[in-house]
Amino acid sequence: MPLPKAELHLHVEGTLEPELAFELAARNGVKLPYADTDELREAYRFQDLQSFLDLYYELMAVLRTERDFEDLANAYLARAAAQGVRHAEIFFDPQAHTSRGVEMGTVVEGLWRSLGRSVENHGVSTRLIMCFLRDRSAESAMRTLEDARPHLGRIVGVGLDSAEVGHPPVKFREVYEAAAALGLRRVAHAGEEGPPEYIGQALDVLGVERVDHGLRCVEDPALVERLVRERVPLTLCPLSNVRLRTVDTLAAHPLPAMLDAGLMCTVNSDDPAYFGGYAGDNFDAVRTTLGLSEERLRELARNSFLASFLEDDEELRQR
Ligand code: HPA
Ligand code: ZN
Repeated sequence: MPLPKAELHLHVEGTLEPELAFELAARNGVKLPYADTDELREAYRFQDLQSFLDLYYELMAVLRTERDFEDLANAYLARAAAQGVRHAEIFFDPQAHTSRGVEMGTVVEGLWRSLGRSVENHGVSTRLIMCFLRDRSAESAMRTLEDARPHLGRIVGVGLDSAEVGHPPVKFREVYEAAAALGLRRVAHAGEEGPPEYIGQALDVLGVERVDHGLRCVEDPALVERLVRERVPLTLCPLSNVRLRTVDTLAAHPLPAMLDAGLMCTVNSDDPAYFGGYAGDNFDAVRTTLGLSEERLRELARNSFLASFLEDDEELRQR
């Protein structure tokens, strides 16, 4: 039995496996610039975040209808459930779809066809988090928030993703203020490729409750001390860090030192179809390669529920 856990850092578009990509391409009459799934997998050699994002956005062309988004989410939830995920807080990137003519309603309602029945079908409770693409303008993010208004009953919060360097959190101050005024929870990617200052900004300017990645906090001892003191959850993604070369090797990942420092770490998969594994695979990898004890693994699983947006009683039932 895999350890029951919550997944808090998961981009639904990053769960698009090559087989499903080709199936959806055929269904929608989309031509992919790869001969087959093997050739596509060959392209999964990334130098950095941007080289991954280029492929990630390219493959989204196959996602067109509500049914596509439903199938995508169902495939993820089945795999996650098999690896012990009992609760998933799922990111999606509306601008990556609306900018190519797929409406917000198609994305949200399509995902909801799966998420709305996930407890019955997969034994996984879910929340949906809408991310803004930080390499696009703050105005575009604000329009996206407006666009989402009819669907806010389905969306628990907002996040910030895509190319980090040069796009500091402060760029989205007004958008996050507007999101907070609408009662939305707030998270943001910070300190993946960007500097530790972006982590402080995400907390101070955007008012985030969790930091996605947050890995580069280790470069700033005063920041680490603050994150420990304030018990700010970090949603780490070890296999992602290896594939995007944020760390040299998994063996060199700072997770053990971060836990020893008292940081509230969680382990997640980020974009599992691209980075070599789902949540359980990430747990297995840190157990095997970093030699984390069973107690540490249980701490990571416990943190994942504590840092989630589950309500208290619901949360207790999960653990
Ligand atoms: N980082 C930033 N943006 C992203 C990622 C990531 O790992 N995955 C999907 N969008
Ligand atoms: Zn991410």
